[in-house]
Amino acid sequence: MVIVRVNNMERPTPGQLSAVLGLVKSATHVDGIGPLSEQALLAARSGQPTSSESATSSAHLLAYVGAHLAGYAHLEQGMAGEAATAEVVVDPSSRRQGVGTSLIRALQEATAPRADTLRLWSHGDLEEARAFAQGAGYSAVRELWQMRRPLRSEVAALPTVLVPEGFRTRHFVIGQDEEAWLHVNATAFAHHLEQGRMTRHDLDRRIAEPWFDTCGFILIEDMRALVPVLAASHWTKVTAAEDPTTRPTQGEVYVVAVDPAYQGMGLGRTVTVLGLAYLRQQGLTEAMLYVDADNRAAVATYARLDFVRYGVDIMYARTVNTQV
Ligand SMILES: CC(C)(COP(=O)(O)OP(=O)(O)OC[C@H]1O[C@@H](n2cnc3c(N)ncnc32)[C@H](O)[C@@H]1OP(=O)(O)O)[C@@H](O)C(=O)NCCC(=O)NCCS
Repeated sequence: MVIVRVNNMERPTPGQLSAVLGLVKSATHVDGIGPLSEQALLAARSGQPTSSESATSSAHLLAYVGAHLAGYAHLEQGMAGEAATAEVVVDPSSRRQGVGTSLIRALQEATAPRADTLRLWSHGDLEEARAFAQGAGYSAVRELWQMRRPLRSEVAALPTVLVPEGFRTRHFVIGQDEEAWLHVNATAFAHHLEQGRMTRHDLDRRIAEPWFDTCGFILIEDMRALVPVLAASHWTKVTAAEDPTTRPTQGEVYVVAVDPAYQGMGLGRTVTVLGLAYLRQQGLTEAMLYVDADNRAAVATYARLDFVRYGVDIMYARTVNTQV
């Protein structure tokens, strides 16, 4: 087996990229869940790093058996002091042959001398991932939930919400609201590993995505000061259905952020409901979101809005000092 490492200063070839996407497709088909996060999938599709190069560096690791791409790992190395995170996937036809183990070894070499800080994401809490992680000396340290709720009013009506006096709602404006939104996002998610460090580069890349829709990016501003202050936002996301002849049915509560100075006023619930109403207006029948299982306030807010747990992603960290 040969492992080819493509760092973020290089670009994978079109052939490498299409082999990765093919592998992801067959793993998704067999496992019933995609093996990569949106960040990693974006990187795999575009061949570009997922984050600003000054903040992080990322790498693609491709494991070949002959000419066949048997496994793939995406590595994202954080700023100094932050953990590196990786996602690993092995082609279903090449499993239980040590490909995953070789990729973990390569990831540990790539993150040396801080390999003990490496974190692995497993999407769907798959049994083989648990066995694999445990065998490699990793154990679960974080649980991310996917929650869903129906959108059709006859199934689950949305509550009426009021925007407080002195506040107004409007849509995000490209070229105007980026810095204010990044500030609110960074302060609202100051303790969040990934979300809180979204950079202008990350934001601009998402704005350039075909799914980006300013009307689904709702802002609540405090108008009581001389200059309006962004207090809360709800960025919704609707991706095209895989089959281009059908319309999407699901929308995502992509990012809800309330400036800490405005938390506790009910703006989080208000802006969430406004975004859900927008998704319903688009004819979508279901809303979904991701939330950390230990973010009690957010889980409670979503549960009160009829969201229920649908799926789980697990983050593994190395706890046993074993060499795989
Ligand atoms: C998890 C995954 C990466 C494992 O890849 P792999 O190449 O099959 O793993 P390896 O062959 O290196 O297996 C190493 C050890 O992990 C354990 N393991 C792996 N798959 C297992 C399974 N299905 N059942 C039980 N144990 C398993 C075994 O202890 C195995 O050693 P053994 O074969 O000598 O018994 C692969 O199943 C996969 O791509 N799953 C979908 C994506 C995913 O869940 N990624 C998250 C990884 S944390």
